[in-house]
Amino acid sequence: MRTQVAIVGAGPSGMLLSHLLEREGVESVVLEARSEDYVASRVRAGVLESSSVDLLRQVGLGDRLEREGLHHGGIVLAWPGERHRVDFVDLVERGVWVYGQTELQKDLIQARRAAGQQVEYEVSGTSIHDVHTDRPLVSFVDAAGVAQRLDADVVVGCDGSHGPSPAAVTDRRTWGRTYPFAWLGVLADVEPSTDELIYAWHPEGFALHSMRSETVSRFYLQVSPDEDLAAWSDDRIWAALAARLGDEPGGWSLRTGPIREKSILPMRSHVTAPLRHGRLFLAGDAGHVVPPTGAKGLNLAIADVGLLAPALSAMLRRGDSGLADTYSDRALRRVWRCTQFSWWMTMMLHRHGDDFDAALQLSQLRWVTASRAGAQGLAENYAGLPLEL
Ligand code: APR
Ligand code: PHB
Repeated sequence: MRTQVAIVGAGPSGMLLSHLLEREGVESVVLEARSEDYVASRVRAGVLESSSVDLLRQVGLGDRLEREGLHHGGIVLAWPGERHRVDFVDLVERGVWVYGQTELQKDLIQARRAAGQQVEYEVSGTSIHDVHTDRPLVSFVDAAGVAQRLDADVVVGCDGSHGPSPAAVTDRRTWGRTYPFAWLGVLADVEPSTDELIYAWHPEGFALHSMRSETVSRFYLQVSPDEDLAAWSDDRIWAALAARLGDEPGGWSLRTGPIREKSILPMRSHVTAPLRHGRLFLAGDAGHVVPPTGAKGLNLAIADVGLLAPALSAMLRRGDSGLADTYSDRALRRVWRCTQFSWWMTMMLHRHGDDFDAALQLSQLRWVTASRAGAQGLAENYAGLPLEL
């Protein structure tokens, strides 16, 4: 097989890149290890910042998002006895959209299918070769068990944090942090008990009330990284959420309902540089991972391919490699901004260390909610920065 851009991974970064390239007149083939059903149904993040939504709208992917997504003008920060709204629209004149990554993934699959895009699902043994030549290639075994070779002008690793693209390069630098806690994520068939997301600091650990729609709520509880999921009965989950989110007799109360899914998510930060090695480019989780606290993972994936698609188009259609040469540096500026913001939100909200750490966290929370300057910093980062920083 031969194409202009071989894309490894059909997550949001790979599928959106393929969509953007087609609009630029560049052809691609997408290779994916999992099945289409698996990719379309895995439960992931759910907040889109305004620049992500602008990009999706511009490229014809905004219809369902606008119909079914929930526009939020702010978030609530809570700790025992206190609840404060951070009003993004007032502070930075933009909000965010709550729209599940699962839904965006379905929109991308639908759009790619309508365009007749070749997506090879259930491939195995994916291996990337010759990235420092003009003729890189990807070898793999297709779903029927036939060994295949995909020759391309450029390969893009959109293969997430455990894919094969890192193995194709030796000259890279990485930075990382594994946090001493994890999230227990819960999806429940119950109307959200809040109009906007609640991020709660609590002596027993962080909790987050998010949502997917008017009838589906998403929750997270800080747990230990080696937590046993079996130890968390539905009753225990609801009791912990109620306590940590500040359910009070006569005050705010948490609605409960059937729990559809629960899982443990590790929390880590990871950055790889550069994001280009000859004719191999990295985008999305293949290049960087953030802890979910700032809701940046999906937005970073969208921003990467928003920068990469015009760069590849200029390189492959006009022989102009200027944007491709600066892609890594431009993308990494944003990656580091979001890495710092996600780390900061994580460290402010999760219980760790001793009582001194807790007192500092509470002081920080008070400042971020009481001072306009403090709140503006949070709002500017959370609601999203421009594509190019
Ligand atoms: N061959 C082909 N595909 C592969 C291989 C392989 N050897 N290894 C991994 N993949 C696929 C995975 O199965 C997955 O579908 O690459 C895809 C990577 O997708 P994501 O993990 O969703 O990464 P990305 O598209 O960059 O999206 C980042 O996803 O994890 C969240 O928080 C993250 O929201 C962010 C977004
Ligand atoms: C989610 O809804 O999955 C979600 C929302 C906000 C976050 C992280 C995850 O910060």
